[in-house]
Amino acid sequence: MELRTGLGWDSHRIATGRPLILGGVQIESEFGLDGHSDADVLAHAVTDAVLGATAQGDIGMHFPDTDPQWKDTGSLQFLHHAVQVARVAGYRIVNVDANVLLESPKLKDYRLRIRESLAAALGLELDRVSVKFKTAEKVGPVGEGRSAEAQAIVTVRRD
Ligand code: C5P
Ligand code: MG
Repeated sequence: MELRTGLGWDSHRIATGRPLILGGVQIESEFGLDGHSDADVLAHAVTDAVLGATAQGDIGMHFPDTDPQWKDTGSLQFLHHAVQVARVAGYRIVNVDANVLLESPKLKDYRLRIRESLAAALGLELDRVSVKFKTAEKVGPVGEGRSAEAQAIVTVRRD
């Protein structure tokens, strides 16, 4: 049995008139995130972590943002595709842990829904998917409410 780990990170600019979608879940908010796709910063970080664990490149390699096919795409599709790529390479996901860095709104009441949404896209049991939330204590682009970031770590196994 072989275990591997992958790391993912993403950042999107905060913008008005855009939805705030995290892990496929729409969050009630006065602003959202700018981007070519649905700008789901969390799904993007987890997708890169899955691709990283299996050394399959990164999200931009699989889903170029110049390709109109992916405009306004639900990012859970990226994640689902990355899991298929890993599976073809012989790996299945063991667990996912992630951080969302966002000054506001408060996200903790969405934790279960976000975990359920990611778990469904990953084809995992709920207890293998963790999501944590942090502010940046009003410092830097996240803290000043100009951007959101997400970090993810994924473990995969090949038997
Ligand atoms: O960033 P800070 O340490 O102050 O966050 C404290 C707690 O607030 C976190 O552990 C998390 O449960 C919650 N939080 C949240 N939504 C955010 C940021 C933090 O629910 N956007
Ligand atoms: Mg992104």
